[in-house]
Amino acid sequence: MIADRLARPVRDLRISVTDRCNFRCVYCMPKEVFGRDYAFLPRAELLTFEEIERVARAFVAHGVEKIRITGGEPLVRRELERLVAKLAACGPLDLTLTTNGALLAQKAQALADAGLTRVTVSLDSLDDATFRAMNDVDFAVDRVLEGIEAAAAAGLVPVKVNVVVKRGLNEDGIVELARHFRGSGHVLRFIEYMDVGHTNGWRLDDVVPAAEIVRMVGDAFPLEPVEPAYRGEVARRYRYLDGAGEVGVIASVTQPFCGDCTRARLSADGKLYTCLFAVRGHDLRALVRGGASDEELAEAIAGVWRVRHDRYSELRSAETAALEKVEMSYIGG
Ligand code: GTP
Ligand code: 5AD
Ligand code: SF4
Ligand code: SF4
Repeated sequence: MIADRLARPVRDLRISVTDRCNFRCVYCMPKEVFGRDYAFLPRAELLTFEEIERVARAFVAHGVEKIRITGGEPLVRRELERLVAKLAACGPLDLTLTTNGALLAQKAQALADAGLTRVTVSLDSLDDATFRAMNDVDFAVDRVLEGIEAAAAAGLVPVKVNVVVKRGLNEDGIVELARHFRGSGHVLRFIEYMDVGHTNGWRLDDVVPAAEIVRMVGDAFPLEPVEPAYRGEVARRYRYLDGAGEVGVIASVTQPFCGDCTRARLSADGKLYTCLFAVRGHDLRALVRGGASDEELAEAIAGVWRVRHDRYSELRSAETAALEKVEMSYIGG
């Protein structure tokens, strides 16, 4: 096991398999930035499935227990089930994938057959007009709902449903989402809108605090908190008092969870990032393609992890609190 400077082990590996996406969610890949002439990575720059597997094995040797495949949109990468099968063979893993659900109905069974354990689907609104506006490619919400059901039917359970809440955009649909997924066996989680990428024009005013979301849901359907399932669990969980299952909130902005962050990220072009907000990655592709041995690769990863001290969200939140104090002192004279 390896620990970073804040004594955090590496437990989760998030593997991006492509930087492309078939959606243009306004909070993630706004069209003004990710337009027709945006330069996505050329194919040769992407790690091959074989290369990804090698890196994943090195991480598993260091103690990784959970692997999440991400993008962009991972299901736009051809034959993704081939990678799933390779990763499933790396050890007993929680092997999951985060998808927008557009291609899930057609892919769910093949992914399950290849050894995927479960899926997380992003779904920001049940209102078709709002959903189409948020994905900005006019994609109908019903097709994502079909994807969720196909995943459940294929045994990729529990299906988690992630909702990014942006003030003024989809907060009015929160209770409706809760009503829809109560009792379905799927786990709904509301996520505070974050300032990722610095391209989405993030403002603190756009964030609906998790506490407010819990109050809205709880007013409609009474809730009680549930103990975390494991140390470092990102979502805070609540149970419906009437037994209709659970719902979660991810308060990355108002209640950051860097202290327990055990996540490493591998980008599609083979860079290792030690934080979601890190601007600089460590080039593992150069090592892999340069003929490094398994030991050399594992040692390079350990070297990066041991000096890690990232806690971006906590620092940003301290900064924002200080700023608010200054603003209040102005208002107060
Ligand atoms: P499971 O509950 O095991 O499925 O994993 P998870 O809670 O990590 O789920 P997921 O990867 O779906 O994360 C949900 C959301 O939490 C992401 O879309 C991000 O918005 C946020 N998130 C996840 N990991 C991090 C992180 O390391 N840092 C920050 N700031 N936010 C994160
Ligand atoms: N804030 C919070 N979550 C985000 N995601 C993408 N952009 C943001 C953001 N700005 C989430 C999506 C999905 C995953 C890929 O990341 O909802 O669950
Ligand atoms: Fe694509 Fe997901 Fe980003 Fe939306 S949030 S643009 S679906 S990667
Ligand atoms: Fe981990 Fe960075 Fe997110 Fe903090 S901001 S939880 S260190 S990924």
